[in-house]
Amino acid sequence: MKTIISIVDNLSADKLSYTQAVDLLTNGEVVAFPTETVYGLGAIATSEAAVAKIFEAKGRPQDNPLIVHVGSKKEIKAFTHDIPNLAEVCMNTFWPGPLTLILPLKTDTLAKNVSAGLPTVGVRMPEHPVALELLKQLKQPVAAPSANKSGKPSPTKAAHVYHDLKGKIPLILDGGTTGIGLESTVIDFVGEIPTILRPGGITKEMLEKVIGPVGEAKPTDHEEAPRAPGMKYAHYAPDSPVFLIEASIQKVQEAVEKIHNEQKKVAIIASDSFNQVQVDYFFSLGDENQLDDAAHLLYQALRDCDETDVEIILVPVLSKKGVGKAIMNRLEKASNGNWFHN
Ligand code: TXA
Ligand code: MG
Repeated sequence: MKTIISIVDNLSADKLSYTQAVDLLTNGEVVAFPTETVYGLGAIATSEAAVAKIFEAKGRPQDNPLIVHVGSKKEIKAFTHDIPNLAEVCMNTFWPGPLTLILPLKTDTLAKNVSAGLPTVGVRMPEHPVALELLKQLKQPVAAPSANKSGKPSPTKAAHVYHDLKGKIPLILDGGTTGIGLESTVIDFVGEIPTILRPGGITKEMLEKVIGPVGEAKPTDHEEAPRAPGMKYAHYAPDSPVFLIEASIQKVQEAVEKIHNEQKKVAIIASDSFNQVQVDYFFSLGDENQLDDAAHLLYQALRDCDETDVEIILVPVLSKKGVGKAIMNRLEKASNGNWFHN
C-alpha cells in the first residue's frame, strides 16, 4: 500500500484532503490525523473490520481498548449511558481538549474491538482544528489510538507516523507538530470517585478545581488487573535501554564516565542545564523551568535516539509538578522503572 502524506493548513482548510480522509474512513479504511496531544490513527468506531485495521497496522495487543473521538458532545449519547454529573462538568469545562473520560458503554453500539470487551468506553473531543474539522465532516465517532507502532513513543509529527506505519495505512493528514506532545489525561468516571488512570496535560489540580477530590490509579504492577489496560505494556521505549538518574550534573557526569570506561556510547535527554556534560549525544528538553517545553520535546528526543548508535540513554528526573507528573509517568515506562546505579 502506498502511504500518502497530505499537508493540511489549519487556516485555509484543504478541502480535497478532508474529502479524501472522509471517503477513506467511510469506506472502512484507517487515516492518521493530528490532534493537540499526539497524532491518532482513526477508523469508524462502529465498524469492527475497520477498527481491526488499526490493531493490525500498529501491531497493538487486542486487549488494549481504544479512545473514541467525537466532533460534538451530543454524539456520545448514542453509545454511553448514565453519565455522572461530574463527568458532564468536565466535558463542559475541558472539551474540546486533552481529556479522555471513561464512561459506561451502551451495549451493541460500538464495534466490540473498540472497548476490548469492557463495559466501558473512553471518549474525548479533540481541540486540534484538523481533527475537529475531520470529525465534524464525518459526523461519526472515530476510534483512534496514537498513530505509532505499538510500544514506540507516540508521534508528534507526520514524519513519525510515516516512519512507523508507511506502507500499512493509506493517508496521513499532516497538520505540523502537535501542541502538547503527550497523550490526553484519562479519567475514570465509572468507579466510586473520579480517578486519573493516565496523567496528561489536564492535571489533577485543574480537575480538582472543577469537580473536587480526584483519585490517582497506582502505576500498575503486573499481578493486578490493570484499570487502563494500556498501562501494563512496555511503552514509549527507544531501541536502547533508558535509565533514570538523579538530576545532578555531577552524578550524570560520573555515570557517563563509567559508561565510557565500558566502551559504550551514551546519550542524555535533559534540560539545557545538562548540556555541559561531555557526552556522545545530547537531546534537549529545553529550559528546566518550562515543563511544557519538555512535554513537547520528549517523544522527538526518544525517537532521535533510535537514529544514532547510542547504547545507553540517561534521563535526569524532572519535577513532578503540573505536567511534570505526565512526563515522569512516560519516562518511568520508557525506562521500565530502571535507575542508573554507579
Ligand atoms: O491523546 C490521546 O489520548 C491520543 C490521541 C490520538 O487522542 N490517543 C491515545 O490513545 O493516546 P492510546 O490508545 O494510545 O491510549 C489510550 C489509553 C490506553 O492506556 C488504554 O488502555 C486506555 O486509554 N483506555 C481506553 N479505553 C479504556 C477503558 N474503557 N477503560 C480504561 N482504559 C481505557
Ligand atoms: Mg498509545
